[in-house]
Amino acid sequence: MEQILFINACPREGSRTLELARHLLTKLDGTVEELALFEENLLPLNGKTLALRDKMTANQNFDHPIFKYARQFAKADTIVLAAPFWDLSFPSALKIWLEYVMAKEITFRYTEEGFPCGLCKAKELFYVSTAGGPVLPSHMGFSYVDALAKSYFGIPETVLFSAENLDVVGADTAAILARAKEEIDNDWRNHA
Ligand SMILES: Cc1cc2nc3c(=O)[nH]c(=O)nc-3n(C[C@H](O)[C@H](O)[C@H](O)COP(=O)(O)O)c2cc1C
Repeated sequence: MEQILFINACPREGSRTLELARHLLTKLDGTVEELALFEENLLPLNGKTLALRDKMTANQNFDHPIFKYARQFAKADTIVLAAPFWDLSFPSALKIWLEYVMAKEITFRYTEEGFPCGLCKAKELFYVSTAGGPVLPSHMGFSYVDALAKSYFGIPETVLFSAENLDVVGADTAAILARAKEEIDNDWRNHA
């Protein structure tokens, strides 16, 4: 059975991003493990936790709890990441989680020449997002995760599903979301 890791970075009650992501999840075959980032009370890496992580890496103590998110990420077959468009990217909880996922010798390693090389099992990462206005100049949240996926984690395929203009005065939010779901349905048929 495929293991789908669902990263839920949607803090708002009635989140449209979460609604879209749940729609996508109905298309995927496998067991879904959900990680609700806003329930994790994530703290940014600091001097103390960085030193701890370096020590655990040097000792190859990869069972240590500091690596739990990295281990969970590395072994998933598919990643679904849902995050609203905040300040041209995504909520900071997602960045903090990524700091923990970026663990040398678990999710990636460096070659002797200093190039990153992915160690993750997943072949696909789906990024789901919604925005209040038009996404301009580009979705920097997705571009960033896309770069990490391809350059560091070794996840070759990334797909963005998004809905825009949801907070524009007079917007027909139901119609916008219905269209975004339809895009998922169409893309999904091409995928299968
Ligand atoms: C803190 C914050 C920052 C936001 N920044 C942007 C932004 O830069 N551009 C934009 O178009 N919408 C922005 N929005 C609006 C959200 O992207 C929009 O309401 C989105 O649909 C929220 O997703 P949700 O319903 O899943 O919470 C922001 C909203 C919040 C709360």
